[in-house]
Amino acid sequence: MSKKLKIRCLISAGPTREWIDPVRFISNPSSGKMGYALAEAAKNLDMEVSLISGPVNLRCPQGVQLVRIETALEMQEVMNAHFEKADLIIMCAAVSDHRPSKIYERKLRKNEFPDKIILKRNPDILKILGGRKKNQVLVGFAAETNEIMISAKRKLKEKNLDWIVANDVSKSDIGFSSDKNEVTLISADGFLKQIPSTNKSKIAKEILDVIYPSCLKKVR
Ligand code: CTP
Repeated sequence: MSKKLKIRCLISAGPTREWIDPVRFISNPSSGKMGYALAEAAKNLDMEVSLISGPVNLRCPQGVQLVRIETALEMQEVMNAHFEKADLIIMCAAVSDHRPSKIYERKLRKNEFPDKIILKRNPDILKILGGRKKNQVLVGFAAETNEIMISAKRKLKEKNLDWIVANDVSKSDIGFSSDKNEVTLISADGFLKQIPSTNKSKIAKEILDVIYPSCLKKVR
């Protein structure tokens, strides 16, 4: 009897921390709630789920493999290592685009703290994965405050994605740290689905219900 094939799903969530010295870092207000909700929804669809998470205050959904990271470079390393074996990859993390070019080993006293911190660009993890994509379904998020649809469609193309979830982070009642979200799901072949404001568990379930058939095609 043939064994039922499980979709292997890789999800990134939460912020990254880019350390300046042992007590200070650059980050963003991502709570990780959307990524964790996606991990739970994927598990409920009987997928084999790995969750690569920045520092957040959430419990890992039962049955999900959790890998904790802090920096964008650590996230890149883990995503790269898991990528080839995954069927569905959802990059939901709010990766810090920059990191300090120098990390001080000891705490800087306030009178030692530099007036200017030189930043280095972090790798675009999703774009690099897009370049390596073979048979996987690759999904990105576009956190926008303006020109939402234009920017989301540009990212979909530039990062070689199959789907992008466009997300307006300018409204305080949805997005980033909120329990609610309101998104538009866009596919590479122009399919569009708006998911009106609701809690992140419901958003996650709806996103996965739409994406699921395209994943099934790939694992068969
Ligand atoms: N992303 C990534 N690596 C980065 C930055 C972003 O993998 N260094 C991913 C995010 O996880 C998200 C997608 O790329 O899935 C879009 O992220 P977003 O912050 O909206 O856009 P950027 O690509 O950073 O572009 P810009 O800052 O110009 O809006």
